[in-house]
Amino acid sequence: MSTKFDQTTIVNYLKNYGFVFASSEIYGGLANAWDYGPLGVALKNNIKNLWWNYFITSQPNMVGLDSSIILNPAVWKASGHLANFSDPLIDCKACHQRFRADKLIEEKYPDIKINENTDKAELLKIIKDKKIVCPNCGKADWTDIRSFNLMFKTSQSVIEDKANELYLRPETAQGIFINFANIQRALRLKVPFGVGQIGKAFRNEITPGNFIFRTREFEQMEIEFFNYPKDAPAKFEQYIKDIEGFLFNVLKLKKENIRMSEHDKADLSHYSARTVDFQYNFPHGWAELWGLANRTDFDLSNHQKLSGSTLGYLDPETNERFIPYVVEPSVGVERLFYAIICDAYRVEPIKDGETREVLGLPYALCPYKVAVLPLSNKLNDGAKKVFDMLIAAGIPSVYDVTGSIGKRYRRQDAIGTYYCITYDFDSQKDECVTVRNRDTMKQERIKISEILKFLGK
Ligand code: GAP
Repeated sequence: MSTKFDQTTIVNYLKNYGFVFASSEIYGGLANAWDYGPLGVALKNNIKNLWWNYFITSQPNMVGLDSSIILNPAVWKASGHLANFSDPLIDCKACHQRFRADKLIEEKYPDIKINENTDKAELLKIIKDKKIVCPNCGKADWTDIRSFNLMFKTSQSVIEDKANELYLRPETAQGIFINFANIQRALRLKVPFGVGQIGKAFRNEITPGNFIFRTREFEQMEIEFFNYPKDAPAKFEQYIKDIEGFLFNVLKLKKENIRMSEHDKADLSHYSARTVDFQYNFPHGWAELWGLANRTDFDLSNHQKLSGSTLGYLDPETNERFIPYVVEPSVGVERLFYAIICDAYRVEPIKDGETREVLGLPYALCPYKVAVLPLSNKLNDGAKKVFDMLIAAGIPSVYDVTGSIGKRYRRQDAIGTYYCITYDFDSQKDECVTVRNRDTMKQERIKISEILKFLGK
């Protein structure tokens, strides 16, 4: 049984079955932009709902938020994104191609220790000392290195000038920090508590790619958890366990495809005192799936300073005011989506040298839980009643009457439908249907009146 596929196989599979399409395809596409089809949006919604239930609804001290994408530009000054959220770019003077200087070095000399904080002069010195040539034209004629800010600019009102310049948020987190005092007061919350948010983020990535792994528009699921400073390290450890619980027990990802990686001190983002990445073994190799950071009091302190608003918390026991320390688990919906597909998609042998494609999702993630398949067109009336009953009960289901029953089973296996219910000529008489399990392919006869109870189990 093969379980590991290359990126092209996954991209084609997702397109053919209506999960992910290249965006703007009829106009020749738009590089690194993807649209989520009917099955893709269903899977994405299931991922988001499971995350929301696991990390927010089922926790006693968690609340949610939906903040704006476009915020006052002062937010990005205080957060450090205007000064620090940039990549080092270098141009080839001969062919005018542009590259990320750190990536040029990493690709040629993976052993040289550089990171996102290595300064531009040092990067340029390495490129010149090592005589690194342009991967496009082979010349070694470079410009100086410039910082390129990754935030997407836009402007409000009809006048496009500096005063009206705004940014699309590069992370959802800042919407939570700037609402900290509002949320704490309005809901009379006591520290420790956390705020979760799901929403779009935008980054003008220099090197997007690897399908939906790195795009310029994506969705984040982030939590900012506000702690007494001394408790932040323990909360960090707790979140390591919670993330593992979500990945392995809820999403049922395979343990061998996930590993943890601790950032070196020199490789920390401008706001972080400790960062751990959960990496997934994607078709292009091990890469970051989920980040966990100890953001200390960095963001709240800076917003307090720049805005002049009080963003501390008054300890009801000691009557002392302090700035909470924040632990932040942050994951991209699309990266989880990609990992889930890579983990679940398989092609397995069945009888007579044939194979079948299966998307072995756990029930909670399946776009359709049930497919209702009448054996013949003549049985539509009875089969439709079963389908209507499932839909009325809120069970995502699909009705399929086209093609042989074998072909219909194959199609449902390939999109992860957990059960196929076949309505046959006997069903009209005995009020029973055949229920087939996607993974075992075992079939059992069940009374129509018992189906909802069966699925409830
Ligand atoms: N608030 C912290 C933060 O944004 P990050 O490591 O830059 O940290 C968090 O991003 C997560 O967001 C990543 O682990 C990844 O899952 C997702 N992500 C970041 N950039 C992305 C991109 N260009 N495309 C898709 N997902 C991305």
